[in-house]
Amino acid sequence: MQHYLNKLRARRDLLVVDREVDPVHELAAVAKRLQRETHKAVLFNQVRGHAMPVVTNLYSDHERLREIIRCGQRTFCERLEEEIQAASSMSTWMEEDRGTAEWVEGRLSELPLLTHHERDGGRYITSGVFVAKDPVSGVPNLSFHRSQFISDTELRIRLGSSHDLARFQREAEARDQAVEAAILISAPPEIFMAACVSLPPDGNELQLAAAMRGGPLRMRRCKTVDLLVPAGAGIVIEGRILPHVRRPEGPFGEFMGYYVEVGDNHVFEVTHVSWRRDAVYHGLICGSAEDLRPLEAATAARIYKHIRSQVPGVLDVSCRPTVMNTIVKIRKQYEGHGSHALLAAMGSHMDYNKLVVVVDEDVDINNMEEVIWAFLTRGRADTRTMVVNNVAGFYRDPHKDHWGRLGLDATRPWGREAEFQRKSIPGEASVNLADYLPQGWR
Ligand SMILES: Cc1cc2nc3c(=O)[nH]c(=O)nc-3n(C[C@H](O)[C@H](O)[C@H](O)COP(=O)(O)O)c2cc1C
Repeated sequence: MQHYLNKLRARRDLLVVDREVDPVHELAAVAKRLQRETHKAVLFNQVRGHAMPVVTNLYSDHERLREIIRCGQRTFCERLEEEIQAASSMSTWMEEDRGTAEWVEGRLSELPLLTHHERDGGRYITSGVFVAKDPVSGVPNLSFHRSQFISDTELRIRLGSSHDLARFQREAEARDQAVEAAILISAPPEIFMAACVSLPPDGNELQLAAAMRGGPLRMRRCKTVDLLVPAGAGIVIEGRILPHVRRPEGPFGEFMGYYVEVGDNHVFEVTHVSWRRDAVYHGLICGSAEDLRPLEAATAARIYKHIRSQVPGVLDVSCRPTVMNTIVKIRKQYEGHGSHALLAAMGSHMDYNKLVVVVDEDVDINNMEEVIWAFLTRGRADTRTMVVNNVAGFYRDPHKDHWGRLGLDATRPWGREAEFQRKSIPGEASVNLADYLPQGWR
């Protein structure tokens, strides 16, 4: 992480706040306001009551995510697929790191855990990457789960039921066993990015992180659980998810912009906490750009892979501005091609795809204004809209608010492409406004 911060600092992508901030609300408020103005990461050097600085807004910019997986000229979806392939053929993805000198042992309450939203039930870890092993195959898995601080020995955690860790927990609980896990905070960017990806059960997400890094990960042995974790992580919380124990967790301001009320969730018993001497705590505001962009990018790549296996001419997929939205870019090859892409997209991820829009290759799929413009100018509202009733929504949907799917075919009418060629002004792209306006006009 330090390496990454230095890189951002060197190219002026890191803002530094030296004024003291309160970890209860104030830090999150300043960070949220800053996110409206800039994609730059923000380092808070003085957090009241804590020695450790806090960094936020690290991954809010799609360009930065592209850089982490070294996209070059390729789309994020194409490149992530390449990385997944590369990972599966890596012969050595890790090497053990035996150095321990730079690590400090401490208590959870010494970390600058943040309280984000007004009604949040307390301090939460939101950027923690859980490392755990599949109890049957032993394959390691990475995933995020919000964790409420209760005491130095207890966190209450939210395991989305479709995630691998929830499956590990169900399987272990059936044998009356706990699941050992380690929570990494401020892990190197490739670990964070790999944790956003959902590989099939036999896929090793640490190996994917190694592929993203371009070489083996240095791994260090945990003190109290039988796990190896990346030595590059700034903070490591070891522990186990207790079987047959559920305790109240919440309320919490979730990624969709609302609070989830108190519910009985899992208990993580903390057995050891350590951090690097120079560690910086990564505080991530749930539902902010930093939370959404990585999840959207990883989900888009998963949907892209699925649709490409079903339908020709698929160029790219975006899930912005929220993960329940899917925009598919195609090079249209036949009448009805758009509707095939719509159907394939709807079947690609059962939790999401509440709205799917298919557009042509000349539309910016990361710009919803353009996408809606394409539908309004290219698609008939009566025959180009597909409503699929009564399809279940995502896993946590007791009121069925997210049931059903809406698809919009916003591609040009087949055979009339020339009428829908976008107009342009010669030279617009290369105009340098400074050549025409006085200094400081902006
Ligand atoms: C920053 C971030 C925070 C997340 N927080 C949670 C969470 O609190 N609970 C949850 O169930 N999923 C959360 N997720 C979603 C999953 O943990 C994540 O997408 C992961 O890929 C699931 O991995 P798996 O399919 O290997 O289990 C979060 C995702 C991101 C990117």
